Order: sequence, then structure tokens, then C-alpha cells
Amino acid sequence: MADRFAVILAAGKGTRMKSPRPKVLHEVGGRSMLGWRVPLAKELGCRRSVVVVGPDMAALSEAAGRLVGAENVAVQREQLGTANAVDAAREAMKGADGHVIVLYADTPLVPKEAGERAFAELEQGASVCVLGFRARLPNRYGRLVTAGDGSLEAIVEANEANPEQLGIELANSGVMAAPAKLLFELLKEVKNDNAKGEFYLTDLVALARARRLKAAVAHCEERDVQGVNSQAELAQVERAFQEEMRARMMTDGVTMTAPETVFFSHDTQIAPGVTIEPNVVFAPGVSVESGAVIRAFSHLEGAKVGAGASVGPFARLRPGAAIGRDAHIGNFVEVKNVSVGEGAKANHLSYLGDGEVGAGANIGAGTIFCNYDGFFKYRTVIGAGAFIGSNSALVAPVTVGAGGYVGSGSVIVEDVAPDALAVGRGRQAAKGGWARTFREGKLAAKKAGQKPKGAI
Ligand code: UD1
Ligand code: CA
Repeated sequence: MADRFAVILAAGKGTRMKSPRPKVLHEVGGRSMLGWRVPLAKELGCRRSVVVVGPDMAALSEAAGRLVGAENVAVQREQLGTANAVDAAREAMKGADGHVIVLYADTPLVPKEAGERAFAELEQGASVCVLGFRARLPNRYGRLVTAGDGSLEAIVEANEANPEQLGIELANSGVMAAPAKLLFELLKEVKNDNAKGEFYLTDLVALARARRLKAAVAHCEERDVQGVNSQAELAQVERAFQEEMRARMMTDGVTMTAPETVFFSHDTQIAPGVTIEPNVVFAPGVSVESGAVIRAFSHLEGAKVGAGASVGPFARLRPGAAIGRDAHIGNFVEVKNVSVGEGAKANHLSYLGDGEVGAGANIGAGTIFCNYDGFFKYRTVIGAGAFIGSNSALVAPVTVGAGGYVGSGSVIVEDVAPDALAVGRGRQAAKGGWARTFREGKLAAKKAGQKPKGAI
């Protein structure tokens, strides 16, 4: 098999996004569009991926550099068309001997299988292969002109097509594959004598045919090659991604009462036998093990949920939350960078930040891990089986030993020994009859028309 390479076009200005952010850094499924393309090239076994960016796109160049290495970021000086964009990768692709796939960074959902099909055509002797699809509304797409045997003759851009060509439903996705040497040789022959005055990558097909080389079409679904040019199209692609994830989750045995209200990220891992109630958001980096229940209106990010655990309703798991087997995290509980041991419970209204909770511990309502002094962060460690009374503030760094007991309403500033009781609050005082005397005094004053000093 020939070595594989990728050229990823990202030089488009994305004007229609009307956003200060470069278009391809907008996210789908919690990952930038560019961030989708680079792993695809890797999955296809590409040895090198070159990202073509525009000039004055510092943020994008930096992001691309992090993904593919700065030496593989090429700049297209002027937006002279898709052929010119690929040509901008010429230097960076020097020495690449094998097959090249051209991908658009603003088309994030192209699946690996589609790329494989394009490469396969080259391996079976085609010199150029284009990924084509049957368009419901082909209007703006380039049309694929095929011969009787299904091989590709030419690509005609919509604004240059004659009425007969406009009737063709087979559309150009933009994904193209060709041997590196031929690709860069043909690019030199592309001219810009067309309606837009641009150098069209699509002209490569006719140029290859003029040399009597074979051009082929590999087929894919329209939704796989949906491009993003506006916020509305970004939302459409996001919807397509979410629908696919929900379907995949359900096929894999995840129970969802209202799947249309559950949102996943590109890397969400949910085991079979998990139940997800309505209105749950999985930001990136979440895994949930079998038998766990994620209850309504919860938000999870960078968190692990163990088997049989229960999270929510209205829970927030932030990065580093690791909820143990059968543990319970209830309503209005926020957990960040804390491992919660097996069977431990924090059922109501708490902030657990930076630390650990031992197995079987019980965290009462309103408990706060005071982890931050305004400058530094500290850990709170709760031992196995400990009991933290409601409305306690644990001022970190602090440790409550295994089996320790903290009285409700305590402010704990010193470590608590295992099995000890710590109470850190004012002592209760009782004065018999005080309330009645107080009430009677106030009532009498009111009747007499007297106001205490300062009353309004
Ligand atoms: C292109 C194809 C068309 C196909 C359609 C699919 C050509 C001439 N036409 O048209 O057949 O149906 O895609 O969506 O190739 N880009 C650059 N530099 C440039 C121009 C474009 O990097 O100078 C990048 C854009 O950022 C974008 C991609 O190339 O990611 C496609 O460019 P665009 O101008 O959107 O091409 P279309 O006119 O849509
Ligand atoms: Ca386009």
C-alpha cells in the first residue's frame, strides 16, 4: 500500500460566520472542526498532514501547529481558489511519496470509511478520485460528469454548468485524492479563466483525463460531507452529530427517555446499561460505567462515573470528578477534582472541590470544601465512613480521619482524628421565658406609640 498524506484546507475567511473566531475553530461535539479533521487523517494512516491557513490567522496557525506540528502549517498568501490552496502545501509536502487526500477543514463529519473508499480507488488504479454524493438540492455544488461506466470525466462548477449539467444530481463533496507527484504536477496546469477567476481544484479531473488517466468517484452520504459556512450550518452539523451519537448510544444499550434533549461530545463514553434522564449535557472527557444513572438537568465535563452510581438531578461534575461505584451525587452538588469513594453520598447542595471522599462517607447538605484562599488551592481529605454534618465548611488543607464525625454547622480548620467528633460552632445558650418577655415588651411599646431608637 502506498504511503498516505493529507492536505487540510482551512484558509477560508469564513466571513459568513460573522464571528471573531476563525471559522474552523468553531466546535462540533465539543471539538474544533479542525480538531476533527486531523484525527481523521491519522485514522486513515496519513504519515503527514499539512494544514493550509490564510495570512493573518495567528490563532488558527497556532492551533494547527499544535495539532500537526508548526512545520506542517502552510500559508496561502491570497485566496485564489481551492487549487491555489492545495498548491500552498507544495513546500511542506516536499518528499511526500504516496497518495494525498485533500480535506476541507469546514466539513467536519466526513467518516473514515469515505476516506478509505477514496484511497481504495487510487490503489485500484485511478489517478484521481473524488468523493461524490447524491444531493437533495445540488444547486451550489460542483457537478460530477461521469461516463457510462461510472468513471469521472470532469467536474463542472454550478455557476459554469449548462442546463443539462445542472440536472446532474451527483455532487462534488470537495474531498479529492491523487498521487502526490501527479497532484502537484497537475496543479501547475490549472488556469483561472473561469467565472470566478479562481484556480479550481476541480479542474484536476479534466487535466488528468486529458492525459488519458482514469478518474473515479467514491460515493458517500450527503450528511457526511455537510459543510459549515454560517452559524446556522454549524448548528445543523452539530445536530447531525448529536443525532448520530444518540442513535449509536441507544444501539449500544444506553437508555434515554428523551434522547433529543441529551447532548454528547466527540469522546463521550457511556457503557451499556446506563440510564440518562432528560436534559443532560456531556461536555468533553466523560465516561460513565454500567448501571449508573445520570438524572435530569446534570452537566458533566472531564468526569468519570463508576458503575451503579447516581448523579443528579441538577448535578455538576467538573474536570477531575471521579465518582466511585454506587456513590450518590444529588441535586445542586458540584464536584471538581475530587474522587468520591465507593458508596459515598453527597445528596444535597454541596461544593466538593480538590480532594477525596472515602468509601461510604456521608456528606451532609450544604457542606463546602473551602479549597481556595484567593491565591492557592488546597485539598480536603475525608476518610472512609466519615460523617460530615450539614452546613459544614471544611477549610482546606484539612483531613477528617476514617469514621470521623463532624457536627452540623461546623467550620473545621484543623484535622479531625479517625473516629473522633469535631464540633466547630458557637455553643447553644438557652434562656427560659426570654422570648415571651421580649414579645410582650415590644407589643407594649408599639401600643404606646413608642419606637425604639433607629427603627423606621
Ligand atoms: C468547492 C468545490 C465544489 C464542491 C464544493 C463542496 C472547487 C472549485 N469547488 O466549492 O465543486 O461542490 O466545494 O463544498 O473546488 N479554500 C481555501 N483557499 C481558497 C479557497 C478555498 O483554503 O483560496 C478552502 C475554504 O476554506 C473551504 C474549501 O477550501 O474550506 C472550499 O472552498 P469554497 O470556496 O467554499 O469552495 P466552494 O465554492 O464551496
Ligand atoms: Ca463551500
